[in-house]
Amino acid sequence: MDIIIKDSYDQMSRCAAEIIASQVKSKPDCVLGLATGSTPIGTYKELIRLHREGLDFSRVKTFNLDEYLGLGMDLEKPYDLDQSYARFMYEELFKDINIKKENIYIPDGLSQDPEKYCSWYEEEIKKAGGIDLQLLGLGGNGHLGFNEPGSSFESKTRVEALTKQTLDDNYKAFYQKANIPRSQMPQFAITMGIGTILEARNILMIVNGSKKADIVAKCLESPIDSQIPATALRLHKGSTTVVLDKEAASKLKLTGATHQSV
Ligand code: GLP
Repeated sequence: MDIIIKDSYDQMSRCAAEIIASQVKSKPDCVLGLATGSTPIGTYKELIRLHREGLDFSRVKTFNLDEYLGLGMDLEKPYDLDQSYARFMYEELFKDINIKKENIYIPDGLSQDPEKYCSWYEEEIKKAGGIDLQLLGLGGNGHLGFNEPGSSFESKTRVEALTKQTLDDNYKAFYQKANIPRSQMPQFAITMGIGTILEARNILMIVNGSKKADIVAKCLESPIDSQIPATALRLHKGSTTVVLDKEAASKLKLTGATHQSV
């Protein structure tokens, strides 16, 4: 695992975007796994800038990690102010790059048969040849996607109940700002499993801010434990890169050859 510590959120975002861009350049028809939340917004802005300079997404396929159950968006219809991750992805990235609509996969929170849908999603990832590079943020309780504490490290795409901490964190970050009452927030989500994530050939996790310093230290330095889902990354057989800003890295005890502070 490579851990890269950057001075600021902007530098973390630039570094992550460069890693994604180099994947796209080396394999123009690559499969990217994408994440939502406030953390990747800067990375997506930077990817849009790189696209304006010529980075080509026309052959790239993307699979998003998760979506709230009950929310979703038809990209062909005008969107409303819902808090779906589909809308988020469209707003923060897809509308400003040349990705083809048919190459975008986001779990459909409006599916009538979520269980069947989850198996289908898992199969589509396989049919696409697997994920070349999976981008991840980190939940305040160590969740990846919406894999809450206790999730099996072998879990696949499925419906997951959200914990109070996740609901509180995501309410503050998104719903409250949009003036949506807490009672209207979905309590369940479709998420790729930890097992699905670990099958990606390369993983890139980005984390910023002092609020995440404790959970970053636990994820990277405390024993591997399903109560802290992101500790599973240490079992990843492919390459894993973690890019932190210095606040998020501030509680790490270990420094060494794998830690580059740049
Ligand atoms: C949500 C998403 C996660 C994301 C996490 C962190 O729960 N499902 O994929 O990593 O939020 O969000 P933020 O980046 O806003 O801290």
